[in-house]
Amino acid sequence: MKIGIIGTGYIGKTLALKLAKAGHEVTVANSRSPENMDKEVLATGAVAVTAQQAAQDKDVIILSTPLDQITKVAPLFAEVQQSVTVIDTSNYIPARDSRIERLEAGQVESLWVQEQLGRPIAKAWNAVLAYSLAANGRPAGEPGRIAIPIAADREIDREITKRLVEDTGFDAFYTGSLENSWRQQPGAPAYCTDLTIEELSKVIDTAEKERLPKRRDFSVQIITERMNGISNKNADWDFILRINRTLYM
Ligand SMILES: NC(=O)c1ccc[n+]([C@@H]2O[C@H](COP(=O)([O-])OP(=O)(O)OC[C@H]3O[C@@H](n4cnc5c(N)ncnc54)[C@H](OP(=O)(O)O)[C@@H]3O)[C@@H](O)[C@H]2O)c1
Repeated sequence: MKIGIIGTGYIGKTLALKLAKAGHEVTVANSRSPENMDKEVLATGAVAVTAQQAAQDKDVIILSTPLDQITKVAPLFAEVQQSVTVIDTSNYIPARDSRIERLEAGQVESLWVQEQLGRPIAKAWNAVLAYSLAANGRPAGEPGRIAIPIAADREIDREITKRLVEDTGFDAFYTGSLENSWRQQPGAPAYCTDLTIEELSKVIDTAEKERLPKRRDFSVQIITERMNGISNKNADWDFILRINRTLYM
């Protein structure tokens, strides 16, 4: 498939490496220019382009920027055909992103993203830690393979997203429509807790929507205190996983 990835940070870079290695034709863009692309991102065959080019003539576009950048990239989607599958990886972390009133009022994050882009989207890879995405992928069928929750309204988006998640080394667990995708937002038992499909299916319905923001903010506060910030650079991934499991499950 022809895949454009916008955002090549911890998540976007890993997706570029894995999806190009799996045989897809991958182009990548960051907020700067193709010349400024980190060479590591291109190590398995991805090609650096502008953000406009990453959104042109693709089967799939993966959006992996901070959530508060989505309004900036939205104009790139004006010409994108409805048949293209757009997959968003973002999460709302108020301590890091700018405050978004609709999300504070409880709007489901992926519905907000869909509104900004003005077209259908799918949600995936938002609920896996960057470290786990890079290091913990396994071949299909291997015992203990971690599952990544996905959400989509259209059957075609669901199928393509499932296939690509599997190409990155994880089972895909369908949480339902975008309206239901709060079940994979920060604070929910399915969020960044590295569970198998069987484990996810047991906890998915235990999520309580009104409790997510408080649990998310607790987790961010504890992680920030431990690591003097929430940057990926100095992250203690094992600690984050343990905190998430304790607070969210
Ligand atoms: N880190 C995690 O463990 C994790 C896990 C799951 C989901 N997520 C979510 O996935 C998203 C990406 O996370 P990350 O940790 O990979 O972020 P990151 O390391 O901060 O990288 C963000 C990327 O987005 C690019 N970008 C920012 N604004 C842009 C714009 N206007 N146009 C084009 N590109 C733009 C940046 O470009 P430059 O390189 O030019 O700065 C950078 O490549 C976030 O929404 C995050 O919440 C993160």
